[in-house]
Amino acid sequence: MEKRETFSGKIGFILACIGAAIGLGNIWMFPWRLGSYGGAAFLIPYLFFILVLGTTGLMGEFAFGRNKKRGAIGAFKEVFAEKNLPFGSFLGTIPVIGVSGVFVFYLIVVGWILKYFVLALSNSFATVSIDNIPAVFGAFAGQPQSIVWHMLAIIITLIIINLGVVKGIEQANKYMMPTLFAILIILGIRSLTLPGAIEGLKFLFIPDWSLLKDPTTWIMALGQSFFTVSLGGAAMLVYGSYLKDNVDIPESAIHTAIFNTCASFLAALVIIPAVFAFGLSPQAGPTLLFITIPNILKLMPGGYIFGTLFFLSIFFAALSSALNLMEVPVEALMDYFKISRKKSAIIVGTLGFLIGIPLDLNINLFGKFADFVSIYLIPLGAVLAAVVFFWVFGVSKARAEINKGANKPLGVWWDFLAKYVFTIVAVVVLVLGVIYGGI
Ligand code: PHE
Ligand code: NA
Repeated sequence: MEKRETFSGKIGFILACIGAAIGLGNIWMFPWRLGSYGGAAFLIPYLFFILVLGTTGLMGEFAFGRNKKRGAIGAFKEVFAEKNLPFGSFLGTIPVIGVSGVFVFYLIVVGWILKYFVLALSNSFATVSIDNIPAVFGAFAGQPQSIVWHMLAIIITLIIINLGVVKGIEQANKYMMPTLFAILIILGIRSLTLPGAIEGLKFLFIPDWSLLKDPTTWIMALGQSFFTVSLGGAAMLVYGSYLKDNVDIPESAIHTAIFNTCASFLAALVIIPAVFAFGLSPQAGPTLLFITIPNILKLMPGGYIFGTLFFLSIFFAALSSALNLMEVPVEALMDYFKISRKKSAIIVGTLGFLIGIPLDLNINLFGKFADFVSIYLIPLGAVLAAVVFFWVFGVSKARAEINKGANKPLGVWWDFLAKYVFTIVAVVVLVLGVIYGGI
């Protein structure tokens, strides 16, 4: 068996975690939710949930992984074995399956983004009329052609994962994260200086306080805050399992949450002012990225260069999350079957590709699959990890692990926050998701 790798240090680890967190959740959900659920009013529950619960969950996953030096399956198994409880590995596979499910649908979107990056780079939108932009997406997504782009996305992710934690994941994020932020800032300036951009700012930030009385606002803020920092009981956990004991976990968690929030704001400032400047309506999901945005790029002076930069930045945001998503099942197979990273990566890549093909060919099925995984499995994984780490392993031992390399160690007060508040809220996210069918 290969020796377990570790991230080279704090910076490498934090960049990898920021890369994992920032993704489609920030770009195609956040701006739209911010505008639709009360603008500045939405920020109150959102920032509260991110800063209080998001950081708590991140610290838990990092420390759980580091304490056991294994991914979720191995870590759950060890905690259960210590207490002579059965079914540890079985329960540990649930978060791993959830995150692997995100891997399956996410890589399809990475393929779409690659295709649109190439379209932007080759100036192909120049010859398409605005009316035909939806048809370009329709002739691609859900059609056999998309399989090729999906495969390309998997191959790129696989190559990086095969290079390992330091030479692959850490290196890739070292290039991608600074570039991503630089591009988002350039695009933000472009968008905010468009005539009419102010309407977008009004949509984003004028508070509609009455929406705070609507439970949906809180539900949306809650679901967003868990998904956006990748709390699913396996993804941040596996990065934590490659962490040295001297790395400051509370600080890493806070940095991950803050940079992730900054990326969400930047994405909102890039997208929404431009949408309003051209009199379009704000959208979420694939429609935003693959129809509304190309439409804007056609209308905007300098659309070629800004479009190319835009799709490059989205590609980096999504690829850095894809690395984390793929690492979860890759680590699980390596650990469980004692096989090499290379073998495991090829198996995971091939399976992810094959399972994704029916979704490539049917966009409805794609949507149902993505919803099922992100509404049910991901919150279920987050709940399981919280229960296993804070309750079965024990919250004071959990805090001791978190405090190992910490500059400002957490006090006993944190035990109540993690054990009761976080766990109960994680259950609430799950239940509300089930009831409302979509967080
Ligand atoms: N946080 C990622 C995003 O916002 C998605 C994700 C969720 C990744 C859960 C891993 C686990 O796009
Ligand atoms: Na995110």
